[in-house]
Amino acid sequence: MQNETALKIINFKTLDSTNTWAKENFKKLDDSTIISADEQTKGKGRFKRVWVSENCENIYISFVLKPDKKDYLANLTQYLSVVTTKILKSYNVTPQIKWPNDVLVNGKKICGILCEAVSEKNEVTGVVLGIGVNLNTAQEILQNINKPATSLNLETGRKIDKNEFLKALCTEFFLHYPDLIEKGFEFIKEDYLNSINFLGKTVYIQQRDGEQRQEYTALDIDEKGNLTVKTPQGSVKTIYSGDLIY
Ligand code: BTN
Repeated sequence: MQNETALKIINFKTLDSTNTWAKENFKKLDDSTIISADEQTKGKGRFKRVWVSENCENIYISFVLKPDKKDYLANLTQYLSVVTTKILKSYNVTPQIKWPNDVLVNGKKICGILCEAVSEKNEVTGVVLGIGVNLNTAQEILQNINKPATSLNLETGRKIDKNEFLKALCTEFFLHYPDLIEKGFEFIKEDYLNSINFLGKTVYIQQRDGEQRQEYTALDIDEKGNLTVKTPQGSVKTIYSGDLIY
């Protein structure tokens, strides 16, 4: 029998946000604790967006991570996106990653990831890595989200067992977490590249909602996980953050 390390999950019925709670209680929490909530009243997304979190059959969790080596903390979001694609594939769907870390199925977002650094006396002590996955959302609810979104129940045509998915996701995350901490993006580069489909295409990058989009050709993902693009004028540029539209 395979040896399983027990997952440390603290579950709440309601929280404002698992990320916010984990950050507020970071010092008291053990490394590798998972904070989970059945619902969030102030679920947060990237760029101060709202993450709709009313459905107790979806996943809203945050990993509390305090590794000694902190060189590759920035790659944890991309690592978690790769881990999520692996679990989704076991449900016979075909996920794609949209740089840097959104996971889509059939071109629609099924999962969002938000990583927040925690610092003490100007030194980063760790991160709170949050993820929301739509497992069992009705079509009517998704229609109210202002960007194309989907849910695993709709993609598979059946109700998804939340505990089963949660356990598989968290177990897979911790399986190669030490490798990511040690080696950074290089460790996931091959899997990441196999999950993207925008290289060579015309893409648009937006830094903030409402701001003007910049047009580029997506060229490559570099060894640190950044996006290399070509401007319409022909120069090559590295994009470190932003929203990719294609
Ligand atoms: C995004 O795509 O904009 C990121 C969404 C992240 C949502 C998750 S749900 C659990 C955790 N708690 C939060 O408030 N946000 C993250």
